[in-house]
Amino acid sequence: MSDNNYPRHVAIIMDGNGRWAKKRGLPRALGHRQGGEAVRRVVKAAENLGLECLTLYAFSSENWKREEEEISDLMGLMRRFIEANLKDMIERRVRLRIIGDYKAFAPDIVEKLEDALEQTKHGQRTLAVALNYGAQQEIAHAARLAAEEGSIDSETISRHLYTTDLPPLDLLIRTSGEVRLSNFLLWQSAYAEMLFLDVLWPDFGEDDLRQACEIFVTRERRYGGR
Ligand code: FPP
Repeated sequence: MSDNNYPRHVAIIMDGNGRWAKKRGLPRALGHRQGGEAVRRVVKAAENLGLECLTLYAFSSENWKREEEEISDLMGLMRRFIEANLKDMIERRVRLRIIGDYKAFAPDIVEKLEDALEQTKHGQRTLAVALNYGAQQEIAHAARLAAEEGSIDSETISRHLYTTDLPPLDLLIRTSGEVRLSNFLLWQSAYAEMLFLDVLWPDFGEDDLRQACEIFVTRERRYGGR
């Protein structure tokens, strides 16, 4: 896309897997599985739309509070997702980035993730996945490092965030009708447009992402000016 106003970086809070399953009388695990299919679709859609970076909130630092069985389902999904998509990501030149403290995951997942990071590092577009991520923790950590450097200003803090090498966040989308940020990209959202959509994540597809980007284009961003 050569349109100057088109978003470069879109982030999504993927919400509603559980409700999608409940509506159909299915176990939550199936909702997450369909959520995984939506991830595949949307990564392709982001490429078709020419986005430079897509950031997905896959596992928050608060998600550890869920039932053990659900956490284990999500971890299984993560393993299968990497196994099933790594080759495709390399071929499509998608660079994987992880934001969050992923090293708290099981050793085999950490190993798979690090292998995927290494194998995709020359990709041209970025898929950033938030894993064991919490924005307040990220900001506190960055502020600590900035303090060690002796300059607690916004430029130095930004440089120590996980997202330092990503384009500025243009558009933040949350699915499922909930209207809150849930500790996601709090610093990076300072000037981002926000879109809260009623669609449940497993139903989200290319058309939804395209429409969201079109709505973004029609919004006038002011950055505090007039
Ligand atoms: C929110 O739905 C979704 C999650 C907590 C997990 C998101 C994970 C995926 C979409 C699949 C795995 C992702 C990758 C990158 C492989 P919810 O369970 O909170 O839904 P509810 O609010 O309706 O209960």
